[in-house]
Amino acid sequence: MELRQAIGNRRSIRFLLPHKPVEREKIQRMLEAARLASHWGNIGTLRALVIERDKASQDVIDALPSPVGGYQIRLAPVIIAWYLETDACDEAADRLRELLAAGAIGYGDNKRKELEETLVPIFAGMGDAVKVPGLNEIDGGQGIAQATLVAFEEGLGTCLLGTADPDGVRRKLGLPDSCRLLVTMTVGYPAESPEAGGQRPRRPFEELFQLNGYDKPFERDPEVVEGLKEDGMIQAEAPLPGREEELLYLRKALDLTGEGLL
Ligand SMILES: Cc1cc2nc3c(=O)[nH]c(=O)nc-3n(C[C@H](O)[C@H](O)[C@H](O)COP(=O)(O)O)c2cc1C
Repeated sequence: MELRQAIGNRRSIRFLLPHKPVEREKIQRMLEAARLASHWGNIGTLRALVIERDKASQDVIDALPSPVGGYQIRLAPVIIAWYLETDACDEAADRLRELLAAGAIGYGDNKRKELEETLVPIFAGMGDAVKVPGLNEIDGGQGIAQATLVAFEEGLGTCLLGTADPDGVRRKLGLPDSCRLLVTMTVGYPAESPEAGGQRPRRPFEELFQLNGYDKPFERDPEVVEGLKEDGMIQAEAPLPGREEELLYLRKALDLTGEGLL
């Protein structure tokens, strides 16, 4: 599937088939995609703890966030806890040297000296200041987004779950203090129809983006929009006809009656 179609067709899938296991190689492909994402300074703080429900202890399952509609954790054959290892920032200078050796940084003839005298002291001097929430979270978002698209391509459904107590979940999962839990992700085969009710609402384009000045909205060209509709990236907005009936059916089929639906 083309990238544009994948972007347009991917949805957060909350209804998963609990009995259908997810092949480990598919999870690996997701992780490979996350690893290849761009990471600031090539530091690579993004990590993931993959939890296979049928192999996990009840303690681990109980540690996972129970969001509104906690049924999502209950249905998912695999849960991925995405987190950051902030201590990776301590090796920032070495990552720069690797980038240089790989030909990724455009220094001149005396490149090693230039690197050691310019960027390395800056990166090394930043200390723990770079471990706070900020750029590392962006690494996380980029990696998770790539993994999400690969999961979709593999026929899997995913949904991210936040928690009000990320540090508590981190500790219960046995992750060290240097780590920061970003989000957990449920993974499995969708029980929903592929369009999952249609494109979920988004803020108006001009409200989100500006061009050449904060007070100048980026004007949306209708021809571009039409082209993206033809490509399958921009799709019909939710709810598509029959979605309410589908939700009722899913609730019954998955024995979710009485549980909240987010
Ligand atoms: C960082 C992040 C955290 C999220 N946390 C939750 C959550 O706790 N529970 C949930 O059901 N969905 C969660 N979502 C999914 C969003 O609610 C979802 O993206 C939104 O409903 C739009 O749907 P779509 O992803 O299909 O476009 C989260 C998404 C992101 C990016």
